[in-house]
Amino acid sequence: MESSKQQTDIKNQIMDLVEDFYDLKHKNINFVPGISEVPVSGKVFDSNEIKNLISSSLDFWLTDGDYSEEFSKKMSNFLSLKHIRLVNSGSSANLVSLASLTNKKVKNHILPGAEVITTAVGFPTTVNPIFQNNMTPVFIDSELGTYNPTAQSVIDAYSSDTRAIMMAHTLGNPLEIEKIKDFADDKNLWLIEDNCDALGSTYNGKFTGTFGDISTLSFYPAHHITMGEGGAVMTNSTRLQLSIDSFRDWGRDCWCKSGHDNTCNKRFDWSLGELPYGYDHKYTYSNIGYNLKLTDLQASIGVIQMDKLENFIDLRRKNWKKIDSIVRNYPNYLSPHQPVENSEPSWFGYAILVKDNNHFSRDDFVKFLNERRISTRLLFGGNLIKQPAYEGKNYRVVGSLDNADIVMNSTFWIGVYPGITDDMISYISETFEEFFNSF
Ligand SMILES: Cc1ncc(COP(=O)(O)O)c(C=O)c1O
Repeated sequence: MESSKQQTDIKNQIMDLVEDFYDLKHKNINFVPGISEVPVSGKVFDSNEIKNLISSSLDFWLTDGDYSEEFSKKMSNFLSLKHIRLVNSGSSANLVSLASLTNKKVKNHILPGAEVITTAVGFPTTVNPIFQNNMTPVFIDSELGTYNPTAQSVIDAYSSDTRAIMMAHTLGNPLEIEKIKDFADDKNLWLIEDNCDALGSTYNGKFTGTFGDISTLSFYPAHHITMGEGGAVMTNSTRLQLSIDSFRDWGRDCWCKSGHDNTCNKRFDWSLGELPYGYDHKYTYSNIGYNLKLTDLQASIGVIQMDKLENFIDLRRKNWKKIDSIVRNYPNYLSPHQPVENSEPSWFGYAILVKDNNHFSRDDFVKFLNERRISTRLLFGGNLIKQPAYEGKNYRVVGSLDNADIVMNSTFWIGVYPGITDDMISYISETFEEFFNSF
């Protein structure tokens, strides 16, 4: 009793010190135009995230535990999805998602060599799991403005070898996901939504990430909420969740939570593969799996971030609108970012297309902005098949990838994340004006 009171007292002292430290190191950092960076993205946090992280380290559970469970419940409530499984990154989430569909225990599972429809405009680790699972990506183009492929272009890419559709809601802008889902159902295809950049986006009032058989999230600092590193694999299907767990956790057949035994009540009564009868289920493997679990330390940060999510989404939308009104001042030179019809994006960034003109290129403009401390990013891999990693790889392309080339050469994006203040937006506006007044 005495010891537990002492523990609480010491913990309270530590937490008070964390508050003081946070105020000194992280609070009220002044923005100085032209000197301070205007970031594209970043962690938005207060002392509560640090306190939870310290509290988790004092617990010293370390592996997947109570904080992971609390976070998963919060995310499950937010998106109204049954199963949230945490992994160490969005890339791992994508890898586990597709791998889980190769499990022979899953009805209609995917075999090696199958085709998976995806887009050439995007982030590599939306596509890489297709190669990593010995399947063939079928690349289609994306539209300029929305930077998503249309549902029709997905339909046009279908062949008798197609078994799945796997793509991202680019920069938070929802795909025409209802039509894509209807098509997937019609052709009995799996649908994986890479929702890493779109947490909180809606299509026809329903959250992206809730249409597909499986969807993913990333919690890297650039994303809507962060744990430093982290990701999630989400599904409403208990059958798929068991497969997801298996691939995430070494390929195991056993479905006990970390630190638990004999959930199946027949731990020493299984007869599987060519193992002797009764071989410990805990050490029985039914898939060629990985270990991609998250730590409870990371989840403890996510638990606090979840409480801020709705406000973060709101701020992203507000900042996006403000940047939009700046970009629309230069219609001869810049094409604005366009939300997909029937959607309300929870934006990841604001994409700008530099039109062909006699004064400057995308690279000139990007250089000008970066010299003035306004950070920019390209639209990820541009045209992915032009990346060295994809040279000589086995894939199919349907239609032209002309827009992907335009994205590669002429598009970039700037930040709308909640750390972007009105002072920063005024500075962005002035800097654009300076640039366009110079010719
Ligand atoms: C659409 C998309 N998918 C997946 C990822 C990978 O996420 P992570 O960095 O957590 O591996 C990213 C990264 O930003 C992304 O933008």
